[in-house]
Amino acid sequence: MTRNDKESQVETTGHSWDGIEEYNNPLPRWWLWTFYATIIWGIGYTIAYPAWPGIKGATQGLLGYSTREEVAKDIQTFSDANAKIETQLASADLTTVTPGTPLYDFARNAGAAVFRTNCSQCHGSGAAGAVGYPNLLDDDWLWGGALEDIRYTIAHGIRNEDDFDAHYSEMPRFGADELLEPQQIEEVVQHVLALSGQDHDASLASAGAVVFEENCAVCHMEDGAGDPSQGAPNLTDAIWLYGGSQEAITDSVVNARFGVMPAWGLRLDDADVNAVALYVHQLGGGE
Ligand code: HEC
Ligand code: HEC
Repeated sequence: MTRNDKESQVETTGHSWDGIEEYNNPLPRWWLWTFYATIIWGIGYTIAYPAWPGIKGATQGLLGYSTREEVAKDIQTFSDANAKIETQLASADLTTVTPGTPLYDFARNAGAAVFRTNCSQCHGSGAAGAVGYPNLLDDDWLWGGALEDIRYTIAHGIRNEDDFDAHYSEMPRFGADELLEPQQIEEVVQHVLALSGQDHDASLASAGAVVFEENCAVCHMEDGAGDPSQGAPNLTDAIWLYGGSQEAITDSVVNARFGVMPAWGLRLDDADVNAVALYVHQLGGGE
C-alpha cells in the first residue's frame, strides 16, 4: 500500500489493523485550550463553593455560599412582605373580615396552606373527614359552626390534656361499665335507629325511648338533636362520626368514644389560627 506525501509526514502510532494505520495527529489547539480551561474552572469552583465530601460534611468553599441560607433569605423576604397583613389578621375581629377584601383573600389562601400542613392527615385533604374525624364541609357541627365557635375549637382543641380550655365532655361507657343491662342497650340502639329514620324494631324502640330519656337526653337532648355545648352529636340525621349501623351505634353506646383534637393555639400563631378558622368556615358549612 502506498501513502501520499501529506500522510507520510504524519507519525503513526505503530498500530495497524488489516493494513489500516493509526495516525498520531496532535489534538486541535482550540480543543486542548478549552479542555484546560474546564479543568481550571473545575478546580476554582470546588475551592469557591461547597464541594468535597468529608466525614463531617462537605468543604465549605471560600465564598461561604449555602443553599440553606439562600432559602432562609427567601423565606425572610416573603414574611417581611406579609408581616403587615399578618399582624392585621392576628388581631382582626374575624366577623369583619368579609369576602372581597384583601385580608379575606389572604386569610383564605394562608388558611388553605395551614390546613394542608396541619389538618389534612386527620380531616382529609378535602376536609371531608373519616370515621372518628368529622367532616368539615357539611353544616353539621359537634361544637358549633359559627366563626367564633370554629376558631375556639381550633385554638383550644378537644379533650386534649395540653390546653386547660379545651372542649371537654365524656359519654359514659354504658356497656363496658355496666351502667345499662344488655337488654336496655339493645332497646336504646333501636330507638337511635328510629330517631335517625332507619329500619328498626318498633317495640324494642319504644322501650328504648324510655332508656334514652333517662340516660341520654341530658347530652343528646330529648329529641336526639344533640347539644353543641357538650359536643354531643345530633343522632337524628344521616351524618355519623363513628357510623350509623346497628353495630356501630351499639359500639358507641357500649364503649363510648373519646375523640381528641390537638390545641392549635399552642402550635400556630394567631394569624394562622385565624386564617385556618376562616378557611374552614368558608368551606361551605359555616353558620
Ligand atoms: C390528630 C388528628 C386531628 C388533627 C391533626 C386535627 N383535628 Fe380537628 N378534630 C379531630 C377530631 C378527632 C375531632 C372531633 C373530636 C370530637 O369527637 O369531638 C376534630 C374536630 C374538629 C373541629 C370541630 C368540628 C365540629 O363538628 O364541631 C374542627 C373545626 C376542627 N377539628 C378543625 C381542625 C383544624 C382546622 C385542624 C388543623 C389546624 C385540625 N382540626 C387538625 C382530630 C384532628
Ligand atoms: C355526658 C354526655 C352524654 C351522654 C349521657 C350520652 N352521650 Fe352519646 N355522645 C356524647 C358525646 C360527647 C359523643 C361524641 C363522642 C366523641 O366524639 O368522641 C357521643 C356520641 C354518641 C354516639 C356516636 C354518634 C356518631 O355520630 O357516631 C352515639 C350513637 C351516642 N352517643 C348514643 C348515646 C346513647 C344511646 C346514650 C344513652 C344511652 C348516650 N349517647 C349518652 C355524649 C353523651
